[in-house]
Amino acid sequence: IKLGVLGSGSGSNMQAILDAIEAGTLDAEIVLVLSDNPDGYILERARKAGIPAEVIDCGGFKTKFPDESQSAVAAQLKAAGVKLVCLAGFMRLVKQPMLDIFPERILNIHPSLLPAYPGLMAWKQAVADGARESGCTVHYVDAGMDTGPIIKQAKVAVIAGDTAETLHARIQLEEHSLYPEVIAAIAAQQ
Ligand code: GRF
Repeated sequence: IKLGVLGSGSGSNMQAILDAIEAGTLDAEIVLVLSDNPDGYILERARKAGIPAEVIDCGGFKTKFPDESQSAVAAQLKAAGVKLVCLAGFMRLVKQPMLDIFPERILNIHPSLLPAYPGLMAWKQAVADGARESGCTVHYVDAGMDTGPIIKQAKVAVIAGDTAETLHARIQLEEHSLYPEVIAAIAAQQ
């Protein structure tokens, strides 16, 4: 299955997907990586792996993902033959027209057990809330923020002395196995 990955930051989840492909546990190919952040390390990781990687033009908006940008991104993904879009640390809200062009074909990974702690810095919310456990969720993307149908979750215990950072690091380890696993299951159904 041909994958397109959208990110904004370090791209460790994109790397985990690549590693799973190389290890032969995921029958897929990342054909295009796009980042709204020109400095996102995800772009460098992709280029190092020989994958086309480009910056998304968001028309100068800081957080908005304008319709024209979404249409352009969808067209680029289609032209590359992408069948499944994986959001991996992408910090803008995907809506129409992308959702219309890739219906139930856009996945996201979120660092909490949704529906708990949607939105930004979910690991920080969990620690501040005194939660005993958290984790990560892979879900289909709909027009809400972290609200789409849940596919699979992995739990992570919050341990004594955890800070937002230590919890996030342990959640990320789980993300790196959960995301490739879910993509592999979807790929197997194609
Ligand atoms: C991950 O924790 C993911 O759950 C969240 O953003 C972070 C992205 O990390 N949506 P990376 O860019 O994949 O390293």
